[in-house]
Amino acid sequence: MKNKFYVTTPIYYVNDAPHIGHAYTTILADVLTRFHRALGDDSFFLTGLDEHGQKVQQAAEKRGLSPKAHCDELAPRFSELWKTLGISNDDFIRTTESRHIQVVQAILQKVYDKGDIYQKEYEGIYSVAEERFITEKEAESGQFREVKVIKEKNYFFKMSSYQDRLIRYIEEHPGFIRPDHRKNEMLGFLRQPLGDLCISRPKARLSWGIEIPFDKDYVTYVWFDALINYISAIGYLSDEVKFKRLWPGTHLIGKDILTTHSIYWTTMLFSLDLPLPDTIFAHGWWLMGESKMSKSLGNVVKPLDLIERHGVDAVRYYLMSEMTLGADANFTPENFIKRYNSDLANDFGNLLNRVSGLIGKNHGGIIPELGIPTLADEEVAGAGRALGPKVEALIREYKVDEAINEVMNLIRQVNKYMEAQAPWKLAKTDLPAAGRVLYIATEALRLSAVFLKSVMPTKTVQVLEILGALDSGSFWGELKPGVKLPSFPPLFPRIEIDKQS
Ligand code: ME8
Ligand code: MG
Repeated sequence: MKNKFYVTTPIYYVNDAPHIGHAYTTILADVLTRFHRALGDDSFFLTGLDEHGQKVQQAAEKRGLSPKAHCDELAPRFSELWKTLGISNDDFIRTTESRHIQVVQAILQKVYDKGDIYQKEYEGIYSVAEERFITEKEAESGQFREVKVIKEKNYFFKMSSYQDRLIRYIEEHPGFIRPDHRKNEMLGFLRQPLGDLCISRPKARLSWGIEIPFDKDYVTYVWFDALINYISAIGYLSDEVKFKRLWPGTHLIGKDILTTHSIYWTTMLFSLDLPLPDTIFAHGWWLMGESKMSKSLGNVVKPLDLIERHGVDAVRYYLMSEMTLGADANFTPENFIKRYNSDLANDFGNLLNRVSGLIGKNHGGIIPELGIPTLADEEVAGAGRALGPKVEALIREYKVDEAINEVMNLIRQVNKYMEAQAPWKLAKTDLPAAGRVLYIATEALRLSAVFLKSVMPTKTVQVLEILGALDSGSFWGELKPGVKLPSFPPLFPRIEIDKQS
């Protein structure tokens, strides 16, 4: 059956310099989308930038620029990095675009007309750094910076009136908030009475935002604005055909913004009578030592540095295989090199070099015939046939790291098979038997390259090109014998540790 796959990343703050954390979510979305495209699913991948709010206004003021000019200057830092990282997004939305602003204003009007927005005087504790009112408990936690008490008249969204409906929805839809422990976290949060959401900022205090259509003295709160990107970009209120085709979708986010997505956004959608997202998937954090990698802590790894050293595919592979579903992961250069050397240089790269070397030496450089497979061959073939359905099931569950591991398991199995069959010895007594083993091993390499294409779009295509199998598919046995292998440099040269420092 043909499925639909609409996936989004958070729209990142335009002010931040993109680091490995942002790259992770975006690559994850890209890998999932590429897999889904390969499965034939109707796929759409959206990413973009969050450009309003106080921090942008302040940064622009400091540089003597208008906020919009400031954003225009900063935006390419993201879009260019995504190009370098091989990100194949279908759209890139910026919240300063009129296609977005119009939809936000129409939604504000709709929700207001419905009676879900009201005005009141409010005194609360405000975190300038977080750009939101925080609870007393949060203030006491000491985790919020630039905290001050603010008293002002503002507009509120009746979030509280949807609390019971939201709890029921989460309970009745097991795959809605993932992984499971994040769902429980949200249900725990919802045991406290939910307040209403302050969704305006007086222009006197902050002018860089989307004007509230029913009160020109205010702009919209940046989160109420930002979350709407997920539907403004795909045609809500402008292209109903496209919107119907794509909505609802999957939101990939970090665990830092789980509350805004599973509580603010969902209740906004309730108020609009729109379906909730299929899935909100909150992944863990990349840590440096004990703490979250973040610009404000100054402990970031710049993706470009890594790409320059090790190439795009290695970076993508590392990020996708190292972080387990939902858990935090520690970034260290040592881990990176270890993972690269063991999986890509040793397991995959060496097998490719070895197999092509033997084909060159003993078989005239031509991929040999399979002939009649033995039991040992059939064992590998069986694993190869089972790989596709396994990978597909894991990808549909967002388990990219496990899908990669399944592919690498096949490669590791073939390395053992090569040791046991020793085609370099067989060649001396039984050349067709040696050829048979090399066919099996080469086919396993081809199939692995096909399944790793979404993760490493460049290197895998090179492998397939070498094997004369660029257009081959995901079934075991598609490798064509008789192809002359070209000579090629090692695709995954080992990283020597002492060259690093
Ligand atoms: O929150 N580890 O934008 P943002 C893993 N504009 N992922 C990380 C990470 C880390 N150390 N650091 C950042 C915002 N991320 C809002 C979003 S959406 C309507 C508005 C990733 O620039 C992760 O996806 O702070 C996280 O949720 C996101 O970047 C936060 O990006
Ligand atoms: Mg952040």
